[in-house]
Amino acid sequence: MDYCPRAVAQPVASSTSDDLRPLYAMPEEVAEGKRLAMTSCAGCHGANGINNNPRVPNLAGQRAAYLYIELKAYQSGARGDSAMNNAVKFLSNDAMVKVAAYFASLDPPTPTATGAPVNIDPVQAGKAVATAACAGCHGNTGISQIPGTPSLVGLDPKYLVDSMKAYKNGQRKHDTMKAMLASVGDGAIHNMSLFYALQKPARAKTPAAGDQVAGKNAAASCGGCHGEQGVSASPATPSLAGQDAQYTVAALQAYKNGSRADETMKGIVAALDDNAMKNLAAYYAAQEPKAPNVRKPLTTEEWTQRCDRCHGINGNSTDPRLPMLASQRVDYLQKVLHDYRTGARKSPQMAAMADVLTEQDIEGLAAHYARQRARAVVFVPQPSK
Ligand code: HEC
Ligand code: HEC
Ligand code: HEC
Ligand code: HEC
Repeated sequence: MDYCPRAVAQPVASSTSDDLRPLYAMPEEVAEGKRLAMTSCAGCHGANGINNNPRVPNLAGQRAAYLYIELKAYQSGARGDSAMNNAVKFLSNDAMVKVAAYFASLDPPTPTATGAPVNIDPVQAGKAVATAACAGCHGNTGISQIPGTPSLVGLDPKYLVDSMKAYKNGQRKHDTMKAMLASVGDGAIHNMSLFYALQKPARAKTPAAGDQVAGKNAAASCGGCHGEQGVSASPATPSLAGQDAQYTVAALQAYKNGSRADETMKGIVAALDDNAMKNLAAYYAAQEPKAPNVRKPLTTEEWTQRCDRCHGINGNSTDPRLPMLASQRVDYLQKVLHDYRTGARKSPQMAAMADVLTEQDIEGLAAHYARQRARAVVFVPQPSK
């Protein structure tokens, strides 16, 4: 027998023809599977394969070969879950074939989650918060027009996240910034940082008094960390190019008097007087800022296009070995995506994807698939050539 799983982007590893056995189950075998399901599985998964128990997956209409593959994985311990490891411990291979065929034969659930389609776009979300809460001081796209207020463009998102968190937890002392961030969650901090990092940088539109030439000479000792022209190559070290000069002076003074705690910078500024600081600030303000090297993150919609290559259109898998995601319980989807990310559940195909998923991506993807209408699929075996 041969299958043509056109939707599969790459062959599914370690699949054998044995995996496909539940597809050929006879009606009496399905009936036997039902008897087993009623006594051993229904308590958690529901008699009709649909349940209301937190983080217990719906099984109704799930792809037959997939169910069987997973049951074998629980039995061998390759997939760990104490409830399931116990439930399958004493099942014969035949029993697993039949119970898989039974659950696959049931009508899939109708989505319980409803409402507008989910399409989380981290950059747009960051822009919305930044426009409402930060633009008044930092400019619409993070280019400062107010002396003393830093530009936020040209800075690595990691540095931006760290500095916002430092204001928030009081490690970096600034009452205004602390108040601004008091009610801003980690997700929004992450999104805003991406938004600013993806804006086209330009020099701050603020005056810079000071001697640039003298500043350039003094900057020789800074370039090793902050970059020759103030464009840093390390996420932990902020770029200085194009930064508002008054802010740079204030930052240097803060390191010197200890109000901004940083051992590295404290030692470096000890020898600088106000004049030297002003010159350094003028030099850096005149340098051309550069956008940090960040890729635009995917929106939920862009992600699902990738997922659907294997899982089928809207999560309706057309390969009996690959799970349908449509109308699955949202809490279960979240749980297993976390499990792939932490490595608690292992799959070469999923690990590569799940590694890069953020918490927000997982939320968006789980919400998306839980809302999709599930379609049962009839698999037609093709004669082998
Ligand atoms: C005590 C509750 C319980 C019982 C009884 C139980 N299950 Fe489960 N089942 C779970 C939980 C919880 C999970 C999710 C575990 C995980 O995340 O790996 C699960 C997962 C599964 C999965 C994986 C589904 C997927 O989408 O990956 C299959 C297949 C399954 N169960 C089949 C069965 C069958 C067949 C029986 C009866 C022989 C059974 N279960 C009995 C709680 C139970
Ligand atoms: C009332 C004006 C004001 C508002 C509104 C404001 N900021 Fe600030 N921000 C400042 C000032 C002033 C500083 C410099 C503080 C210091 O000296 O540490 C600053 C510093 C920062 C820094 C540190 C930059 C660096 O180079 O280390 C970040 C990041 C930042 N703000 C982000 C934000 C975000 C995000 C928002 C919106 C949630 C926001 N700010 C709202 C005035 C403001
Ligand atoms: C050994 C590496 C190193 C050297 C050399 C160094 N810096 Fe820094 N600098 C850092 C690091 C790391 C930070 C971030 C510290 C923090 O989080 O507060 C920083 C922060 C700064 C900031 C704050 C920027 C902002 O956006 O808030 C300024 C301004 C600065 N450095 C100027 C200088 C100048 C001027 C020199 C040379 C006289 C210099 N630095 C030399 C590592 C260095
Ligand atoms: C290259 C093919 C491929 C791609 C692309 C892919 N998956 Fe999977 N996915 C699989 C395979 C194979 C499994 C079964 C692995 C296992 O046995 O644990 C799986 C399992 C899952 C499961 C567990 C389903 C269940 O019932 O337990 C979820 C949830 C999931 N994938 C979500 C996604 C999401 C979300 C994406 C996109 C970010 C994605 N997948 C992309 C191949 C893929």
